[in-house]
Order: sequence, then C-alpha cells, then structure tokens
Amino acid sequence: MSDLKWWQTAVFYQIYPRSFADGNKDGIGDFKGMIEKLDYLSDLGIDALWLSPHFPSPNWDCGYDVSDYTNVAPEYGTLEDFKLFLQEAHNRNIRVILDLVLNHTSDEHPWFLESKSSRDNPKADWYIWMDAPPNNWQSCFDGDAWTFAPERGQYYYHYFMKQQPDLNWHNPDVKQAMWDAARFWLDLGVDGYRLDAIATIYEDPNLTPHTVPLDLAGLRRAVELAQTPAEKKQVGKYWHNMFKNQVGQPGLHDLMKELRAVLDEYEGDRMLVGEDDDIAYMGNGEDELHLVFNFPLMRTELLTPAHIRRNQKERLSQLGALPARGWPCNTLGNHDSSRIHTRYGDRQHDAELARLHAALVLTLKGTPFLYNGEEIGMTDLIIADPAKLRDTMATWYYDRLVSELKVDPQEAALRAGEMSRDKNRTPMQWSNHPNAGFSPANVDTWLPVNSNYKTGINVRDQQHNPASLLNYYKHLLQVRKSSPALIAGEYIPLDTSAKDYLAFLRKTDEQTILVILNFSEKRLELNFSRTKDIKGHDLQILFSSAERLKTTKPPHGLTINPFEVFIAEVGA
Ligand code: GLC
Repeated sequence: MSDLKWWQTAVFYQIYPRSFADGNKDGIGDFKGMIEKLDYLSDLGIDALWLSPHFPSPNWDCGYDVSDYTNVAPEYGTLEDFKLFLQEAHNRNIRVILDLVLNHTSDEHPWFLESKSSRDNPKADWYIWMDAPPNNWQSCFDGDAWTFAPERGQYYYHYFMKQQPDLNWHNPDVKQAMWDAARFWLDLGVDGYRLDAIATIYEDPNLTPHTVPLDLAGLRRAVELAQTPAEKKQVGKYWHNMFKNQVGQPGLHDLMKELRAVLDEYEGDRMLVGEDDDIAYMGNGEDELHLVFNFPLMRTELLTPAHIRRNQKERLSQLGALPARGWPCNTLGNHDSSRIHTRYGDRQHDAELARLHAALVLTLKGTPFLYNGEEIGMTDLIIADPAKLRDTMATWYYDRLVSELKVDPQEAALRAGEMSRDKNRTPMQWSNHPNAGFSPANVDTWLPVNSNYKTGINVRDQQHNPASLLNYYKHLLQVRKSSPALIAGEYIPLDTSAKDYLAFLRKTDEQTILVILNFSEKRLELNFSRTKDIKGHDLQILFSSAERLKTTKPPHGLTINPFEVFIAEVGA
C-alpha cells in the first residue's frame, strides 16, 4: 500500500460551504463554522475535504459564478479565516481540495466587466463574442445561449446561466490568468482541485446548430412527461443532440495536461479530480487528471447488484487499459443530485438501503467521495414555493412553465421544486434544537431546514445512539482504514449472476477480504467453500450490519440476513 498516493487511500467528504456550519449565526455557513466542525470530521474518519466554491460570487449559481478567484466570499469569512481553516484541517491530517470553475466566470467578474465595456479593450477577446447569435444553441440552465450586452452591442456565449459567461480558452491570456489563480491557492497549501464542468470549456469551432425541435424549456418538460422506455430514450437522445456541439470538443486534453503541469510544479502530490466520467481525461494515467468520477454508477433508478457489477466490469477494465493504470473514484451523491437516501430508497427499506449504499462506496475499489449530510441520512426537501428557491435554474424553469408552456402554477411549482438542486442543499442538521442547530432559532436560514431533524436525522442524536447511521459510517470508515485490502486490493466479483446480492473479494498479496451486500429482504444461504481464494480458509468477520460478533466462520453454511452488509477477512 505504501506505493499508493494519499488521494488513492483517502476518503473524501464534500462540504457545501453555504449549508455546512454557520459559525457567525447569520443563517449561512462559513469558515468559522467549518473550523468548529473539523473535530467532528476527524472523528467521523474522513481524510480529505472537497469544498464547493468559497469565492466571492453574486450567487446566481450558488457560488459557481465566481467574481474573484483569489478571495473568500465575505459571507464565508476572510482570507485569514480560510488560512486558519486550512491549517487546522492539516493539523488533523485532513487534506483540502477546492473547486476550480474554469469554463465561465460571473458576469460581475472584473474580467467580464472590462470585456463587455467595448470591442477593443485589453480583455475584449477573453469571452466569446458575436455580432448576432450564430446558431440556435441553448444554455443548459436558462434557454438561449447567446445574450446581448448593450455596452458593446454584441452577444456573448454562456453554457450555463446568462450570469455565467463562458471564457474564451483559445486566448493564452485567459489560461495564464486562471493558472495564476490556481497557483494562488496551491501556494497557500491546498492539496488540489475538483474541476468544475470541464467538458464545457470548448465549443464546436464550426458552431454547428443543433437539430432538436424543442428549446430548453420544452425539452425539460418533455423529459418530465416521458413515461415509456421509448419516450425516455427519445428525450435522452434529444438532450444529447441539443448539447453535443457544446461539450467534449477538441483542445481539452492539451488543456488538462497544461493544468497538470501547473500542479506538478508543487511538492506534496497535489491532485485533480474532474467533474466528468470520461476516463479519457486521465490521459495516459499520469499526464492529465488524477481522477474522474464514476458517475455511471449513479445513473440508475435502483442500485441493483447487476447494475453495480456491469458498472465495475466496464470501469475497471477501461481504467486498467490506460498505460499507467487509472485509479477509480466512486460516489453516489453531491450538491447537484438528489440525496442518496431519497434517490435510491424504496420508501420501505430506506434505512437498510442507506447502509448498503454507504458500504458500497466504501468497499468498492477506488477513492470514495461522500457528500455532507449523507452520514446522518439527510433526505431531499422539495421546496414547492418558487419564491423560496435559490437555485435559479429552477426559478427560470418555473417561469417558463407558467408563461410559455401554460402549465398550472401549482404543478409548475412542484416540478420546479423537484428539479431544483436546493432540495439536496438544505442546511446540515446538527442537533434537534430549532433550525436543526445550524443557526439560532430566530434566524432565517438561507434555505429552509428540513424539519425531519426532529425525528433523529441530526448529528447530536445520532452521536448518542450506537445503532445510528452516523455511528455505522464511523465504524465502516474505521474498518476500511484498518484493512489494507479494502483500500488497495483488486476487485474480484463472485457469484456474478446473483440477483439479490453483490459478493466480491478485495485482494492484495497480504490480505483477502470478502464483501457481501444483500440488497434483498431474503435470508441468504451462501457457500464459498469452493471459491478460489477462499477454499480451505475460515472467514474472520470484520464488520456486519447485523451486529454479528467478531467470530470466525467456515465459508460454507453462511447465512446472510436481509439487507445485511457482511465484511470478513479470509483467514491465513
Ligand atoms: C457543475 C457544478 C454545478 C454548477 C455547474 C456550473 O456542474 O457542479 O453545481 O451549477 O457546474 O458551474
């Protein structure tokens, strides 16, 4: 294991700064709060943090519209607070990576203000300007991708909101400015970056129009209304075709190599993880990104053993084919997706399934990324009042539903609440005090707190309950940390046609671990006495959600309880 890098052995935890911990009690998370919670994180057993953007921003896209890349949003604190946070995290052996938004800036960034001020200013060419919209391209957030700027009498391109103009990455000055911004934080000691929306950086140079007979609002609506598999397939195709000329265009690999070279100027194995699932962004395995996310694992309505096995087979063989062998990276949730508990639950066994899913990301081969709140089982909160939504892509959609598509306002509000990412970004639930202990009782939090904090979905209650999900995560994280094979071992699938359960080995030269995840209500009678790598050995139980004692068992006559997570070391 010693030859693995820190980002291969680490468990990452994503903090969404606005919702994590409110230290100054104004209803918005901040660095003071994050510093106060570092002991909690250290006790939980994670090794690294990914912070969603903490930079100054007008917040049209909750911080993903950056107006200053080398500072801290005043509502989160000061640069000094950041430095203290980083130091305190490092003191606890917790690494920190930041979110680097490359594709676009805020329309209030000084670069854009200058660029739009005239056609011949020094930054005139830093964004993508046209005299007239050259095509029918859509923004994936707010309709037309071309917006008029009266100051210069031209249109600029934006893949996301119109408040997020796309940078012109063909301009070398843009690269230099962004690499300098990246160096600013690396100089301060941050351990790397999560790279936002990399696929959107370049556009088709021929500006080829799309051929979908709908605009963005029409397509979103069609996605919602699609029922049959054929309809779903059709809207999926439409979505791909609408945006295919705006994503994944030539130039990206050279750019990722350049950024990798910037990181490699530094000591300490700084790392890059791309918000994309395309393994091609890992280059030869050591000259582009260190990691990309295994999003295909998430892209399913139900996490079935068959889906997981297919996913692992494909992913691991692709990664293995890279000249320098790529390292996997698994996650089931983040600030853009429905919470795991809600998304993959079945409303009958949500608690059991949440435990299985946690065990899944923590035992598969690769670096796991957890999302704040999943460790206590936070769920989606649908905000069906458009006035309370903060995710502007959802408020934009609400307006279109009502004004253009003539959808009943009540239904529109519900649809907007469902598609809004606010539902999975509500404040962290720290206790059963008012406002879930996130902010004092009389404070209006930036998004409503989910009232289910009163029913045990909060940190404080769960800390005191040995059987809680929180303590389950902690235990599992400890088991992972103390089992080299769970970190470094190869993944070897077993019983590959089993429908109800997933069984696999994680194996290094020194250790072999058997993992069984029973995704069903059935009691299973399993027998591994003839399985290569197991036969002739006993199993030493390391962990069981059925609270088995740490005993030794033969690999035959193994009874696995409904929804049990079973982890055992194969004896010597
Ligand atoms: C990424 C972020 C998302 C953001 C978008 C635009 O997908 O994860 O939250 O809205 O990029 O920056």
